[in-house]
Amino acid sequence: MILVSGGAGFIGANFILDWLAQSEETILNVDKLTYAGNLNNLASLKNDRRHIFVHADIGDSDTLTRLLKQHQPRAIVHFAAESHVDRSIHGPAAFIATNINGTFNLLECARHYWQSLDADAKAAFRFLHISTDEVFGSLGAADAPFTEATAYAPNSPYSASKAASDHLVRAYHHTYGLPTLTTHCSNNYGPYHFPEKLIPLIISNARAGKNLPIYGDGSQVRDWLYVSDHCSAIRRVLEAGCVGETYNIGGWNEKTNLSVVHTICDLLDELQAKPEGSYRAQIRHVDDRPGHDKRYAIDARKIERELGWKPSESFETGLRKTVQWYLQNDAWTAQVLSGEYQQWLAQHYHGSDTSATNPDLL
Ligand code: NAD
Ligand code: DAU
Repeated sequence: MILVSGGAGFIGANFILDWLAQSEETILNVDKLTYAGNLNNLASLKNDRRHIFVHADIGDSDTLTRLLKQHQPRAIVHFAAESHVDRSIHGPAAFIATNINGTFNLLECARHYWQSLDADAKAAFRFLHISTDEVFGSLGAADAPFTEATAYAPNSPYSASKAASDHLVRAYHHTYGLPTLTTHCSNNYGPYHFPEKLIPLIISNARAGKNLPIYGDGSQVRDWLYVSDHCSAIRRVLEAGCVGETYNIGGWNEKTNLSVVHTICDLLDELQAKPEGSYRAQIRHVDDRPGHDKRYAIDARKIERELGWKPSESFETGLRKTVQWYLQNDAWTAQVLSGEYQQWLAQHYHGSDTSATNPDLL
């Protein structure tokens, strides 16, 4: 079996669903169920004995130690993190606690467990750390995409905390020999994406007749990858990645934020037309994100050359599937949009910490 941390979140849940669609190997899913963790993402596995869910914090050594001893996983795939840049600007402490201290704790528990294994199990064990392209900082318009050799230059509390966790993973391999692998992926999108992030936020707001907030002039560039392509890359790295190495994962899909929002509006105009006018009329430019990174772009040639991985979806096919998924899953969105999320909208987009401030605008 393998242990997955953060498997109730967006990418972790997609990873578990994809994994169990093509493997009989059990997954032990350890998740704290923060606002971003949602067991509804895994509702289709309700009676599936291959999915074992444990509600726990990666900072809890006793529970992790017990689980590792009891279940003897052959690998750990570490997704658990605070993942939203804007939240890291409003409140960085949770990012330090989970992304840095939590990763440290998971590494310590993994190291002690790994050292207790017999020679064959020790050689086969892997600790796969899911990192991000944001640790490399921001590119200028004419710069070459990030490679695995690009120097770290994180700019937000989120990316700085992920960079720190990457350094710990590297050190655990170098110092203790822990068989680690690290991946750096670009922006994901697809089913079960929490609607605080650009693509699901725009789909959800557009359909609700609300404003579509674009930070600044919308000229910032992100490199988009459909989530199931990220999942297949992770499976490939776990299967064949070279211990101690890092792999960039990306889809060669650089887009400005404005063009992403235009494409979503056009898809909605086609798939769920309004009585009159285009969804584009709901676009509003709002204050820019402090320290907003201008451009990310991933050079994914190493994983293609060494592991033979390539994405299956183009941005056009992936985004169409995504919009269709949200159109067909209103109940999922309605459940996610309740509760704590309303307070986040009020605080972030209206400068208030209560949901009383005209929540209808966004
Ligand atoms: P997410 O915010 O949707 O999910 C994070 C999950 O981790 C949630 O289920 C949450 O409950 C859980 N979690 C948080 N703190 C925890 C803790 N202390 N202990 C146990 N569980 C905890 O995030 P995501 O978008 O699915 O991202 C997953 C990973 O992939 C993160 O490490 C992120 O940095 C990385 N990543 C994300 C993207 C992207 O575009 N979303 C791109 C590249 C890399
Ligand atoms: O690059 C990988 C990273 O991608 C991951 O490591 C992060 O976990 C993930 O959240 C994502 O970070 P971004 O900051 O790029 O994603 P987000 O969806 O928050 O924003 C995408 C772009 O859209 C960014 O330039 C900010 C902009 N934006 C975002 C929101 C929420 C807007 O213009 N308006 C918005 O309301």
